[in-house]
Parts: sequence; structure tokens; C-alpha cells
Amino acid sequence: MDELCANLNSWRGDINPCSVALAPHLTTMLKIPPVFALATLTSLVALAPQPSVAAPAAIVRAPFGTMPDGKVATLYTLRNTRGGQVQITNYGATVTALRVPDKNGVRGDVVLGFDTLQGYLNGDAYFGAIVGRYGNRIAKGRFTLDGKNYTLATNNAPNHLHGGVRGFDKRLWNAKPLMLKEGPALELTLFSPNGQEGYPGNLNVRVRYVWRNDNALKIDYRAVTDAPTVINLTQHSYFNLKGAGLGTILDHQLRLNADRYTPIDPTSIPFGELAPVAATPFDFRQFHAIGALINEDNTQLKNGQGYDHNFVLNRQGGGLRLAATVREATSGREMRVYTTEPGVQFYSGNFLNGVKGKYGRVYPRRSGFCLETQHFPDSPNRPNFPSATLRPGQTYRQTTVYEFSTR
Ligand code: GLA
Repeated sequence: MDELCANLNSWRGDINPCSVALAPHLTTMLKIPPVFALATLTSLVALAPQPSVAAPAAIVRAPFGTMPDGKVATLYTLRNTRGGQVQITNYGATVTALRVPDKNGVRGDVVLGFDTLQGYLNGDAYFGAIVGRYGNRIAKGRFTLDGKNYTLATNNAPNHLHGGVRGFDKRLWNAKPLMLKEGPALELTLFSPNGQEGYPGNLNVRVRYVWRNDNALKIDYRAVTDAPTVINLTQHSYFNLKGAGLGTILDHQLRLNADRYTPIDPTSIPFGELAPVAATPFDFRQFHAIGALINEDNTQLKNGQGYDHNFVLNRQGGGLRLAATVREATSGREMRVYTTEPGVQFYSGNFLNGVKGKYGRVYPRRSGFCLETQHFPDSPNRPNFPSATLRPGQTYRQTTVYEFSTR
């Protein structure tokens, strides 16, 4: 079945009919609730690109591959009423594809990823995954909480990165499809036991992806713990608004709603200072191309090998605020990122090195960018940063929206 999916994927390029084409059979096999079965059948008729015609939303599931421990990962295809499509696997709660129209109404896949589970098992770039328990870096893999010292893996020597050797991106989550008024959704849950990857506290995590009918991917995060711990969940999709594997992102125009950023040392740990972006290559307060200043002779750009920095979002009070807008001229696609978080890691794909991704396309350096909404890196060691501590009785909450349109 996987092979068939892979073949169909490479054969059809951007349009992935695999799970949809197999759906009626799978519906019986996997006992998909009737509401989804009905949606599935309708989706077969409505699959052909017809962006302006409203069609019923649909959720289809198909096997995605077998894990080394024998468990089978599932791929969920969520299609909204505009025909936009998001595919998510419960391995790493990973977004594997996101298909939205360009200015001519032609849908293209704008996130980097792999055709098969094996690609994700082999990969080390966190394509599309939810990272945790602590996304981004913790200096030297050490922190102290309530007077107790904790030691974590230094998997990005000399620091801890993205939850350790086997973070949330490498776990099989439980998944439940939901048909909401806003659009089709997938709710993923994960239990992270006390001591896993060195973190204290039994943690229950819930991530809900809602693929809204207005082509916006809303991600709601919740978590509770039974002992004090640290938490920083984020989404690690790499975007290329021209289409994944269709060149670099250096020509994308970016605007960030940030007057300040957190400069880093050569190991990518913030010094603790919130520095103004004014008069530096980090000033994205007006649109300019990501590549315009990326090769400037600048210590911070050298330390990150390009952009790989946390920006301090301008915000007053809580709630969803616009963090970033990205535009790409040839496709006419625009993406807006809204978040409740205090920061966003803007990463310009500096470590991509030609890995072969979906549809046989390769991903050279800087062919995708990430906007990882988050608390600041190394917060557990930085009392002046917004706290990433979660205590029993509290609920960790985060919402981020990636909204797509054309112009
Ligand atoms: C994050 C980090 C980067 C890099 C990527 C994965 O965005 O900030 O330095 O490690 O993940 O390659």
C-alpha cells in the first residue's frame, strides 16, 4: 500500500490522490465513522481542481508506513470546502503536505517533506513536526527548577535541541479526526512520562489542527503536568510559497512584527539581551527579500549561518497577534502567521543540504523557511525571559494560525 502511495505521489506530482483514491476501501477497513465515509465519497467527485466551487469538507485516512516497533503510522488527508488540502501523520504530529491555490487557482504543495514514513524516520530536519517537550535550545542541556538540577541530552552539541534524542517529533501520537464548523480537524494527543528525555513531570499534551475553510491552518496546543516542568511546543513546517522543491526562499518577501530579537552566541544560545533590530539585517519591519542581506558581513548572521534567530514579537496583552507575513511574487501566494506566543524563531533553512523530498524533488540550502512560534530559546536559564515553566493545576495553552491567500 505504501509503495502504491509513493508511486501515485511521484506520478501525480503536487496533487496527491493516493489516500483519496483508496478511500472507499479503507473506510470499510478502518471503520471510519459514517460522517467521514460520506465526506470521503463526495470528495472523490470533487477532487478535480475547481477552487471557486464550494465542496463538502472531507477527512480520509490511510496507512503511512510501519515504525521499527511494528506500529503503523496513519496519514490523514483533510480537505476543506475550498478544496485546500492538508495532510498530517500521527508520527510526530507532522504536517506532510499543504496544498493551497496560487493566484491562478492552481493548487501547489507549499511545505517540505517526504512521501513516506521512512523519509521521516531517516530525517533530522524536523520537517513539519510538532517539537517538544522544549522546542529550540537549552544551553548545555541543563536547567534548574525549584532548586533541582536537570540534565538533558546535548543532541545539538553542546546544547539540547527540540526535546532531545527522541522528542515529540519522533513519537507516534494518538489521533482523532473531527469535523468542526470551522473546517476538518485532527486532534492529536501524547503522553510524555516523567523522566522521558530527562524532563520532570508526567505531561499530557493535546494538539488540535483545524484546517479552516478559509485556507488557514489553526493549531491549538494544550498540556497539563503532575509536577513542575518546562514546556515550549512549536510547529516546524518549512515553507516555500512557490512550492516545495521549486527553488530557494531567498526571493520571498518577509515582514516580521518585531522591533527586537535575541542575539545568539556561536552555539545559537541567546545572550539574554533583547536587542533592537533597527539598522541591522534583522530589521524585517518593512517587507524585504529574505535573501537581501543574508550574506552581509554580520556576526549574528555568522553565528546563525543565516537567519536562525528568535524575534521578540511586538504585543500588548494576550490573544492572537500578527507575527509575520510572507509574500512570493510568481505564485502570488501570501502567508500570515498569527500567534499567542511571545516569540518566533525565523529559520532560513541554512542546514538543508540537498535532501531528496516529496515528488523526487531535492531541497538545497535555503529552499524552505520556518516560522516557529514559541517562548524564547533557553528560557529555563533566563529569568528575564517569559517563563516556560508549567506547574500542576495550570494549563499550557498556545494557538498559532498559518493563513494562506493570494494577491
Ligand atoms: C531549528 C533550529 C535550527 C535547526 C533546525 C533543524 O529551527 O533553530 O538551528 O536545528 O531547527 O535543522
